[in-house]
Amino acid sequence: MLAYRHAFHAGNHADVLKHLVLVELLTYLNEKDKGWRYVDTHAGAGGYALQGHYAQKHREHEQGIGRLLQRHDPAQALPAPLARYVQQVRDFNGAAPGDTAAALRQYPGSPALARALMRPQDQLRLFELHPTEHKILAGYLGHEPGCEVRLADGYMALKSVLPAPTRRGLTLIDPPYELKTDYARALAAMREALTRFPEGIVMVWLPQVQLVEAAQLPQRLKAAAGTLARKGWVHTRLTVARGDERGYGLLGSSVFVANPPHTLAPRLQPVLPWLARELAQFEGAKGFVERSAAA
Ligand SMILES: C[S@@+](CC[C@H](N)C(=O)[O-])C[C@H]1O[C@@H](n2cnc3c(N)ncnc32)[C@H](O)[C@@H]1O
Repeated sequence: MLAYRHAFHAGNHADVLKHLVLVELLTYLNEKDKGWRYVDTHAGAGGYALQGHYAQKHREHEQGIGRLLQRHDPAQALPAPLARYVQQVRDFNGAAPGDTAAALRQYPGSPALARALMRPQDQLRLFELHPTEHKILAGYLGHEPGCEVRLADGYMALKSVLPAPTRRGLTLIDPPYELKTDYARALAAMREALTRFPEGIVMVWLPQVQLVEAAQLPQRLKAAAGTLARKGWVHTRLTVARGDERGYGLLGSSVFVANPPHTLAPRLQPVLPWLARELAQFEGAKGFVERSAAA
């Protein structure tokens, strides 16, 4: 059942959007000294070799992070949130400060980004169900102070880690959506996270594909967050591809954030159209940010 391996997709346009928002949210949490807890229900392996067999199969990163790293023209500087995210990718590749030409050999997954931004007072709770991915993740972060890596169903595990003890926290729900049940389970997981921890930030990644479940999920997330989240929601969407001749394939993706910081929408608003232009695979590419009145 667990056929999905994120290494095939690491660093693609969907990872760029997801990890851009993740870095922005963790950077915001770091503005205060009080510790936070990061929960990753579908953590993956933690980091990915881009020269490896999986990543080289479709070379998806070349249409994602690769396009952003190839920009050397300082006259066209990256918008600040993108620059922060890109810097994290460069750091993960061991680039020296100011070295913008360092090779892209590996790509940080969400656990690696959270690990890079965590401080001694912060905690990581990482769940992964695939035995091989879990083994790699456990070897990478399992012994790090403040980190716990568990071979477990991330949906089921929420009750064991929420609310965050300091009442400051971020939960990422990032399923593969290979099973149609992931759409309903992701929604239920956001509801559970907000019920257990109404002021906690919850981030849900979702694919833009030709499926009724995918088309309905943003509306369902908005309705749920509208009643359960104390600080409303922000929805970011990036469409970069047209799909095959029948419209199938990953056209783009969304990141939905419940209880966003008030800075999130204004900071990302100018970035999404910019990102759509940079990562466009067809002339109809677009990116936007929408928010609830409370956000
Ligand atoms: C999209 S990937 C995660 C990527 C990661 N969050 C990142 O941004 O780097 C989804 C992962 O969820 C794992 N998975 C699938 N179902 C799961 C479940 N019920 N609980 C925990 N992990 C699961 C898969 O094995 C896969 O590694």
